[in-house]
Amino acid sequence: MEDLVKIATNIIDRAYAPYSKFKVASIVKTKSGKIYTGVNIENASYGLTICAERVAVFKAVSEGDRDIDTVIIYTDTDEPTPPCGACRQVIAEFNPNALIVMASRKKVITQRLSELLPNVFSLKPSQ
Ligand code: THU
Repeated sequence: MEDLVKIATNIIDRAYAPYSKFKVASIVKTKSGKIYTGVNIENASYGLTICAERVAVFKAVSEGDRDIDTVIIYTDTDEPTPPCGACRQVIAEFNPNALIVMASRKKVITQRLSELLPNVFSLKPSQ
């Protein structure tokens, strides 16, 4: 896991966050072992901003790799940042039990998505 957090620290400056100045990096690891990177990308219209996690998930899915295993969220802060509600729902679409690793410069917290988003809305028969 440390290697993935290290990659996140290396890419965080790709974040485009001129409005909030809050940079986020995300790494998605799929069951095949491949990794996909993401950063938050803001927009002058604010509402079109996309979180780092969703960028990484959409990159994986658009490459045909839907089996999400782990999602790292890295911020250069003292406390780790948990994924926003929208990102939880998007990750749950592909794996409601994904491992979510929230890392900051001082701490790492690991939780299952099923703990962060219990009783998830799903149209899939069973998971
Ligand atoms: N942000 C993320 O990238 N991921 C999250 O889970 C929380 C919020 C970004 C969106 C916005 O660019 C900035 O953080 C401040 O909300």
